[in-house]
Amino acid sequence: MFPVKEELAEYAGRVEKRLAGLIPDADPETVVISEAMRYAALGGGKRIRPYLVYAFSRLSSGDPAVALDFGCALEMIHSYSLVHDDLPAMDNDVLRRGKPTCHVAYGEANAILAGDGLLTRAFGVAAACNTAAETVRRAVAELSDAAGYAGMVGGQTLDIATEGKLVTKETLTKLQRLKTGALIRCACRLGCISGGLYDGELFDAADVYAEKIGLAFQVIDDILDGVGDPALLGKSVGKDEASGKTTWLSLLGRDGAEAFANELTRQATDAVKPYDKEGRLASLAELLLNRKK
Ligand code: IPE
Ligand code: IPE
Ligand code: MG
Ligand code: MG
Ligand code: MG
Repeated sequence: MFPVKEELAEYAGRVEKRLAGLIPDADPETVVISEAMRYAALGGGKRIRPYLVYAFSRLSSGDPAVALDFGCALEMIHSYSLVHDDLPAMDNDVLRRGKPTCHVAYGEANAILAGDGLLTRAFGVAAACNTAAETVRRAVAELSDAAGYAGMVGGQTLDIATEGKLVTKETLTKLQRLKTGALIRCACRLGCISGGLYDGELFDAADVYAEKIGLAFQVIDDILDGVGDPALLGKSVGKDEASGKTTWLSLLGRDGAEAFANELTRQATDAVKPYDKEGRLASLAELLLNRKK
């Protein structure tokens, strides 16, 4: 089996270091916002999305420095999405990555602004990558599509709009494909794009892999919200049920949800088999399936 846990841990260290360098203070009078941005983006997080960029970048022979910066840009967007997701107007959570949420630590207005700061900084980081202009252009467009109203923001809109309502499997799949799947798909695509690959068989296989692990990832997130250990997870549990959200746990029960995640993981692994010679992608899908945080 590929040593994915060790490689992910090593890569997470590289992401942490690079992200820290990408969020310097701008001005003595606004340090509260750069501090809040670093608070939200550094010191935690599994760094799954940057690692996916890296993994697909290896398959497309991308420049590792470009893959790292594309991954950091995406991780900034992901971190911003968590800051806003935790706000009182949304999920109203007080614990994130084992620490008080950004709005608890810095106040609501600063948390909104720190999220805005991370989102906009992400585009600057991607745009500044030292690579072919076409590669940068494609990456920026992918980030915008994935993060915006046709992607993660759209999913969050559906998530909030369906609270307290009965939701079908089809609607839940659509909602989660957007809220969680979009950034995961973006990660796999950015990896391909970093190597100048914009379409073709590997690109399509990356999309199927992303689609399957993206959904499996949210199935497991739903299960962990119901039965996980908050000390391990670093976030509160029981929130989905309390706020009347339909989840895979509520729709299928624990056994059904676990079987569904298993099947999705198998499909993901199958989709990339011809390319995944080292077994990195298969091992990652398995790691995400069995995660406890
Ligand atoms: C949490 O994502 C939000 C979801 C999309 C389910 P992660 O589980 O990747 O969060 P971190 O980055 O590791 O904290
Ligand atoms: C949020 O999904 C996904 C985002 C776009 C931030 P959740 O609300 O389920 O994520 P957690 O459980 O708070 O991490
Ligand atoms: Mg939410
Ligand atoms: Mg939440
Ligand atoms: Mg959740």
